[in-house]
Amino acid sequence: MTVKNPADEVSRAYDVWADSYDTQVNATRDLDAVVLRSLDPALFRGDVLEIGAGTGKNTEWLAPRARSLLALDGSEGMLKRARQRPGVEHVRFIQHDLRQRWPTPDEAHDAVVCNLVLEHIDDLSFIFAEAKRVLRPGGCFFICELHPFRQLQGSQARFLNPETNTTEYVRCHLHDVSEFLDAMARAGLVLARARDWRDPGAEKTAVPRLFSLLMMKPW
Ligand SMILES: C[S@@+](CC[C@H](N)C(=O)[O-])C[C@H]1O[C@@H](n2cnc3c(N)ncnc32)[C@H](O)[C@@H]1O
Repeated sequence: MTVKNPADEVSRAYDVWADSYDTQVNATRDLDAVVLRSLDPALFRGDVLEIGAGTGKNTEWLAPRARSLLALDGSEGMLKRARQRPGVEHVRFIQHDLRQRWPTPDEAHDAVVCNLVLEHIDDLSFIFAEAKRVLRPGGCFFICELHPFRQLQGSQARFLNPETNTTEYVRCHLHDVSEFLDAMARAGLVLARARDWRDPGAEKTAVPRLFSLLMMKPW
């Protein structure tokens, strides 16, 4: 297990959130699960890296589909939950701060998956450069994130802290979609698909909850 940068403010918050992350009402978490499961599983049948795996909501879905799966997260509390999920015995879980060089070699993965993580990361360019570094040519980088329109409306990662019975807000950064696209282009990745995601049954006029990008590393 690698601990590069011991728990900072965000990791400490998720350590507290871990026990209730899967059970508290959370439409963003639930829609994100639908998004990943709507993708072609063939994208994830090779050597997969999941960054910010959390309690393993998506790890559990990826594990039986991937040849190998490495799951990184900064919060040991979240990873402890993830390790308890069924069918993840072969997954390699490592506690790691994603703002530091990722603990995996160049061109070791066919897919990198990142869900609901990047609002906590200030420097997107480092994340995209690392994704490019660890992907094999032809590999894909999939991200699904809280839509910045939602952030502009005041949405932010938050949870009820059972110890204090108060709502806690986790440190976040506002990134416009153009910032993601710019980081992608500067890293040398190319866009395959972009989508906005609204709550089930919502009208087109409703503000989207999530957006996703599927990017490829050129051959
Ligand atoms: C909202 S949760 C999402 C978890 C999971 N991907 C999901 O979709 O349910 C965000 C996760 O990102 C992790 N995270 C945030 N910043 C991080 C960082 N700098 N390094 C590693 N993990 C980080 C948190 O610990 C947390 O588990």
